[in-house]
Amino acid sequence: MTRTRIFSGVKPTGHLTLGNYLGAVRQWVREDQHRADALFCVVDLHALTVEHDPARVRRLSRQAATLLLASGLDPRLCTLFVQSHVDEHTRLSYLLECTATDGEMRRMIQYKEKTARERARGGSVRLSLLTYPVLMAADILAYGAHEVPVGDDQTQHVELTRDLAVRFNQRYGQVFTVPRATRPSVAARVMDLQDPTSKMGKSHADTAGIVYLLDEPDVVRRKVLRAVTDSGTSVEYDPEGRPGVANLLEVLAACSGGGRPEELAAEYDSYGALKKDTAEAVVEVLRPVRERHAELVADPSYVDGVLRAGAERARGLARPLVDRAHEAVGLLPPL
Ligand code: TYM
Repeated sequence: MTRTRIFSGVKPTGHLTLGNYLGAVRQWVREDQHRADALFCVVDLHALTVEHDPARVRRLSRQAATLLLASGLDPRLCTLFVQSHVDEHTRLSYLLECTATDGEMRRMIQYKEKTARERARGGSVRLSLLTYPVLMAADILAYGAHEVPVGDDQTQHVELTRDLAVRFNQRYGQVFTVPRATRPSVAARVMDLQDPTSKMGKSHADTAGIVYLLDEPDVVRRKVLRAVTDSGTSVEYDPEGRPGVANLLEVLAACSGGGRPEELAAEYDSYGALKKDTAEAVVEVLRPVRERHAELVADPSYVDGVLRAGAERARGLARPLVDRAHEAVGLLPPL
């Protein structure tokens, strides 16, 4: 039997957040790298789909890789690399652009939301923002991944990846594995502490409701203690009616490992106590990550070595599969 292959990634458009950690990274560290052949990628090409500062993208890419190692990805168990170091992603992306339709792309929720925001500010939208989910599909399909561990906001993109894989295989013959998304049982969508109806996103301008993995403990405490809760006083788990409290309960459940959010709700009779325990639980979860990050920053050649070896392995895996896809669509193999 072939070993399960897993692929996932983070986009270096901002500092990594508690949402990235609880929704994705923690699962990669605790489970995925141990049970499967897992590849994790800093998807830097995706960071170019919105206005960007070259020096910042470079800095954030290195920081994201360092933070993934600090969170516990172990290069002896998994493969960690940077997307732009492996040409097969863009090579395959074009073939998938020839498989997808423009209507399909325009229906993507993230595209609709981001273009609406950008246009409201009078800005323009890069063409690559429209085609971004195709590049994401290429990231996954280039490795024949079976599973894609992601937070809730990426499920639609993984669905599109499945559709493209099936369509390609039907037209040109069996080339791609059809992947499926996996998600954590709690905290698959961590909400902004100041606006619990929207996702905690790393590139949001207002940072008061966003906990970053590298925030100092006091900053974490302040952000959690000031979280917007709902009018009402009793502590109940009701994501629709009481999104602020539900979010805190989810974060507490994920960080303390102490039960389901519904069960935890019964242990509290005030918002204050819930916030205090949540703040401390988050501080404790992030403490070892920050400490390990400080050590790794002092040793950039180690991180470079991991990324170099990771890219080499990734290239070796993706190359033959992407070559097959090229042949299948009718391109003449190199002579
Ligand atoms: P990105 O960089 O926005 O997020 C990285 C991972 O973190 C999850 N996540 C969250 N989970 C819970 N609550 C939140 N508030 C939260 N915010 C982010 C995301 O779901 C994701 O799993 N398009 C992807 C990157 C990507 C990718 C891929 C992922 C590119 N190619 C191939 C998987 C496979 C993205 O923008 O993730």
